[in-house]
Amino acid sequence: MNLKQILFGFVGAAVIGGVGFQLYGQYVTTDHTGVPLPADSARQIAFDLSRYSGARLKAAYPDADAFLGESLQPGEVDASAALIATLVEKTRADYYGPGKARRDAHPKSHGCVTATMQFDADLPAQLTGGVIQSGASYEALVRFSNGSPNPMTPDVNGDTRGMAIKLFGAPGEKLFSAPGDENVQDFIMISSPFFFINSAKSYTKFFEAINSGKIWKMAAIPFYLGVKGSTQAVRMMRQKIANPLETRYWSVVPSQLGTGDARQVIKFSARPLGPRNSQIPANPAPNFLRQAMATTLSRGPYQMEFMIQRRGNTELSVEDSIPEWPETKAAFQRVGVLTIHQQNFSTPERDMYCENQSFNPWHSLPAHRPLGMISRTRRVVYQAIAELRHQMNSASYPTGLPANENALP
Ligand code: HEM
Repeated sequence: MNLKQILFGFVGAAVIGGVGFQLYGQYVTTDHTGVPLPADSARQIAFDLSRYSGARLKAAYPDADAFLGESLQPGEVDASAALIATLVEKTRADYYGPGKARRDAHPKSHGCVTATMQFDADLPAQLTGGVIQSGASYEALVRFSNGSPNPMTPDVNGDTRGMAIKLFGAPGEKLFSAPGDENVQDFIMISSPFFFINSAKSYTKFFEAINSGKIWKMAAIPFYLGVKGSTQAVRMMRQKIANPLETRYWSVVPSQLGTGDARQVIKFSARPLGPRNSQIPANPAPNFLRQAMATTLSRGPYQMEFMIQRRGNTELSVEDSIPEWPETKAAFQRVGVLTIHQQNFSTPERDMYCENQSFNPWHSLPAHRPLGMISRTRRVVYQAIAELRHQMNSASYPTGLPANENALP
């Protein structure tokens, strides 16, 4: 474990996060019209965002599915409310001013690209569910990003990278939909098969420490994360890549596949199929990853295979996001191919569309329900931050594929 690297990696967020802002978020017992919230409001998070537009976040915290190995941690709902309060303050401090608000995590985009997801023909029944059906095909949008909370961080710095896929034309009632296109299914991944936090208590302390800006609080981060979590945090933050297309991504946390008694637990991953011969330039420009992607896609399409890893009868944990599910115990199996089209995506119009998009693991059919504590937390946190940044920017969520989607240079 290298404490210095952890602190240096987190310090950007802490410094920009600001010091001494009062938390103003609170539980409320009535909605914005004054009507009392339902009696089960202990499971309800209603968060006051009225400083921006008079709106309040109303989101039911998910139940645990014991059949699939989920269980609620003590204090989990309160921890999520505390986390929202911290991240709202941080967003407000980092991006003060109309039109400036960005995502709290993964704010730096290398670009949003259009693609087609083609699921394989003749998939065995145990690999199907929801949108994953033999021969099914979907138009898609993919956003590639850096994980760093500081969007100015140069691409050459070590970081965890993100790949968020949105499939269009996926009908059926969703677990959550942002205003706009309700027929979407999102799959969100990062360039790591494991995470570094697995308890509600530790993530609250972790984010509080980062946002306090106080060195003595940040020095305690390794104690909140533990040896394994700290080691994995460092490994995640040290990743250097030459081209976001030539990188492998994992869901990290599990989700459901299928419904009813046949439902099972899976993770998913996308792996490059095209050439992987990009090199980090000798004197890399701050945004060289965008350039690398643009060069590849100006020459032709790029393909990645989409795979799922079935938990099956293994003891692999649904709740604990720190240990990786070893492929020796649960192999990844290909279910389809994502073809990213040849295109010029690096335009101001596409970037604005991309900025106003929202990817959320709960933009999902019940057949792909996200699972585990981290997923349940993301149910309320992503909605809160996406709504907040849209309110701060007076922006609306785009609908459907971007205009002029495959414009070539
Ligand atoms: C407690 C755990 C986590 C918290 C609090 C968190 C928080 C957030 C927030 C607030 C956003 C921005 C949402 C928006 O404004 O639209 C975000 C985006 C993102 N998160 Fe997480 N996250 C967590 C765990 C994870 C995990 C386990 C993954 C692994 C797949 C992940 C991958 C991503 C990616 C790739 C994005 C960018 C999505 C896009 O391109 O719009 N996050 N996260």
